[in-house]
Amino acid sequence: MKVVVAVAGGIAAYKAASLVRELGRAGAEVRVVMTRAAQHFVGPATFAGLTGHPVVTSLWDHPGEVHVELGRWADAIVVAPATMDLMAKAAAGLGDDPVLATLSCARGPVFFAPAMHWRMWGRPATQRVVATLAADGAHLVGPERGALASGESGEGRMSEPEAIAAAVVAHLQGPRDLAGRTVVVSAGPTHEDLDPVRFLGNRSTGRMGFALAASAARRGARAILVSGPSALPTPPGVERIDVRSARAMQAAIGQHVGDADAVIMAAAVADYRPAEEAPSKIAKTAGPRTLELVRNPDILAELGAARSGAHPVLVGFALETEDAAARARAKLQRKRCDLVVANLAADGFGGEENLVTLVDAAGDHPLPRRSKAAVADAILDRVVALLGQSGPREG
Ligand SMILES: Cc1cc2nc3c(=O)[nH]c(=O)nc-3n(C[C@H](O)[C@H](O)[C@H](O)COP(=O)(O)O)c2cc1C
Repeated sequence: MKVVVAVAGGIAAYKAASLVRELGRAGAEVRVVMTRAAQHFVGPATFAGLTGHPVVTSLWDHPGEVHVELGRWADAIVVAPATMDLMAKAAAGLGDDPVLATLSCARGPVFFAPAMHWRMWGRPATQRVVATLAADGAHLVGPERGALASGESGEGRMSEPEAIAAAVVAHLQGPRDLAGRTVVVSAGPTHEDLDPVRFLGNRSTGRMGFALAASAARRGARAILVSGPSALPTPPGVERIDVRSARAMQAAIGQHVGDADAVIMAAAVADYRPAEEAPSKIAKTAGPRTLELVRNPDILAELGAARSGAHPVLVGFALETEDAAARARAKLQRKRCDLVVANLAADGFGGEENLVTLVDAAGDHPLPRRSKAAVADAILDRVVALLGQSGPREG
């Protein structure tokens, strides 16, 4: 979790220090950017000390485009305190200071924690601004009703740093709706060895399966990732088992299926392997060479045939070059799965995004083109619903 805390010029700026600490405690990496006015209330040294990184106080003191870098770096930006002035400028699309410029380059969600006198908060212009920010997709945290810096009481007090941090973290981490569950995910290609230096493989990178395991872990599951050869890093909190061939994958999944509440077969498992694996490098010969292939185990079909009742929830993938949804429906029945994720090779194989249709007993549910992380979340939403229907695990 990478979070930019953007501090604007209000009395509550001193509370931004606590917010930085709360976010750090929750495991976030934090960077701070300040308006010029904010520096009248609290010094950048405080935030530099808390984050261990220089604070951005100007667009001009850094080499390159610091606002673009920060916007790209941050999973979320939280403006706290959000002054009346800063929100109005942000809603108008201005960018003449480091906070505004960073907001203009945000790739993730933006949170505003307003803090101001109750009259400022209540004035129609401010309410128009807040409505515009919300319509543009920003999240508002607070303000609360309570004691204000002026000595009066009213609506305009910044939410407590703990509450702001909790809102940001909950948004980034999503629901913990898989707590106590075990999810086994297979990912990547398999490599079927011909000899000590050659293999039959495919172009799967493992991204979809890794995104699923990452999302399952984030949502509180024990996430066991059985991965074919893949260069991807292991996502945080995920238990990874590296395998090479379809048969090794079958064995690794077999060891964990007894504990699993759900098994998601996202791996591109080779249907065939060479009939023989040569013990030494196969020598070149003059003429053509014929390769004999034998069937690999169909791991998904075996899991479907072996399971008792609806446990574990079974999810398959149907990667096709045509007719993906129709073939997925056939696969759903043939392999006794609960859900098949259908996609065309051209729409996602090897890439960062995926365009899929979720096929289950209730019908076809096409999703818009999304990042593999977002597709993973949508698949796990269905898994959570299916787990709810099937009740606790037997035995
Ligand atoms: C002592 C003092 C306290 C202020 N407190 C607030 C405040 O709590 N909320 C607010 O919106 N503006 C407050 N202001 C006004 C802002 O500092 C002023 O609008 C400034 O231009 C905001 O700049 P910024 O939005 O770029 O940080 C305060 C001003 C002073 C002098």
